[in-house]
Amino acid sequence: MELGERTVAIVGLGYVGLPIALLFAGQGFTVLGLDADRKKISSLQIGRSYLPDIADQQIASAISSGRFSPCMDYERLGEASAIIICVPTPLSAGQLPDLSYLENAAIETGKALSIGQLVVLESSTYPGTTTEVLVPILERESGLTVGKDFHVGYSPERIDPGNKQFAVRDIPKVVSGVTSDCLRRTESIYCEVFQSVVRVSSPEVAEMTKLLENTYRLVNISFINEMAILCDGLGIDLWEAIEAAKTKSFGYSAFYPGPGVGGHCIPVDPQYLQWRAGEFGLKSGFIELSERVNQSMIDYLADRVEGVSESNCSTRTALIYGAAYKKDVDDIRESPSIALMERLQDRGFIVSYHDPLVREVWVNGKRMRSVALTEERLSQSDCVIIMTDHTGIPIDRIVSHARGILDTRNVTAGYSERHIDRVGSGNFGNYRKNPHR
Ligand SMILES: NC(=O)c1ccc[n+]([C@@H]2O[C@H](COP(=O)([O-])OP(=O)(O)OC[C@H]3O[C@@H](n4cnc5c(N)ncnc54)[C@H](O)[C@@H]3O)[C@@H](O)[C@H]2O)c1
Repeated sequence: MELGERTVAIVGLGYVGLPIALLFAGQGFTVLGLDADRKKISSLQIGRSYLPDIADQQIASAISSGRFSPCMDYERLGEASAIIICVPTPLSAGQLPDLSYLENAAIETGKALSIGQLVVLESSTYPGTTTEVLVPILERESGLTVGKDFHVGYSPERIDPGNKQFAVRDIPKVVSGVTSDCLRRTESIYCEVFQSVVRVSSPEVAEMTKLLENTYRLVNISFINEMAILCDGLGIDLWEAIEAAKTKSFGYSAFYPGPGVGGHCIPVDPQYLQWRAGEFGLKSGFIELSERVNQSMIDYLADRVEGVSESNCSTRTALIYGAAYKKDVDDIRESPSIALMERLQDRGFIVSYHDPLVREVWVNGKRMRSVALTEERLSQSDCVIIMTDHTGIPIDRIVSHARGILDTRNVTAGYSERHIDRVGSGNFGNYRKNPHR
């Protein structure tokens, strides 16, 4: 590494940017953390984390060591040799790529850009974004030329929030550059912090790598959800079949049924790819079908909640366990739990939810707060729906006190009580109300 190259700036300190900032700080870099959200910066400045995966202590010690400075001042980007952009890339209301966060971050970065700096985009996006969107903005705002005055790379972030099995630095880092010098610079900085770095020939290949991974997940999750619906109709336990299929160590990768996909990646990234394909007059049939299957899960689950809750009362109540889209995260973006809450309300249910990590949500335009999971509440709800399998879910308590349960995550496997309706278990027809309630 060249002299003075041990200061990096991270733009966007969310689920991706904050862990990356701490990773660089932990490896001896001086890290400037920029975020447009004043609350996040204030929280970090007093040593408070806003992510379940990151403890306050980690933030406090990174700040007190002098290695991490959270701020909102883009002019300070000039202090860094490398600027890493980790801003959101969501869908617009019309389900099209919304690059506005990326464009704004690029404008601010471009204004502060100086000769010799490296800019790396980590946000997930469609192939072509780095060269067709990011680079032109940086050149326009700075008056500098890529490959000559400054460098640009793309390196998809492959972090999996909530996953304690893989540390960020152990996930191989795919790197690319707009020119061969850009690639060399990008590779050299990530080599400093990641165990393994994988070079690819262009930003388009690196962008596609991320979309490939997440489209593969969307297709397979949707496929296994369809298999669960099928097996429930056939009276076959899909979970048992998956365990048996897994014994073959080649040609099969296990995916598990659930309530559908959520988060900022799996429901979004394939749409970016589909949109880009459309620009070339192409279309992915797999993505289209998977989206359809995925979306149909909510009605399928709502139907099953109706089955579990068959009650003569005019008011039926549903208690949802888990608002987050997956275990051990507080992320509710595109969460199937929220979609199910809305659908159940539309069908006349009185809905409440409990999530130890999510204090409040907006459902059908109204704010709802997480309720305590008391025995009384469990026993008074017509149906308790397990949507998220957070570590520590009090499953014994739920099984003992609920009148009826719909389990979308297989956390009641091993319980033989017939008031449990477990998606994919083939036991749909055997469901009976809890005789003790
Ligand atoms: N969350 C994941 O599991 C995950 C995993 C891999 C990749 N990604 C990708 O990483 C990117 C970021 O995702 P995320 O989950 O971290 O999003 P996030 O919403 O948690 O964090 C993004 C942060 O960027 C900030 N921001 C927005 N515009 C800004 C600007 N102009 N300047 C400075 N800060 C700005 C926001 O305030 C926010 O704190 C997305 O492209 C996403 O697809 C996410």
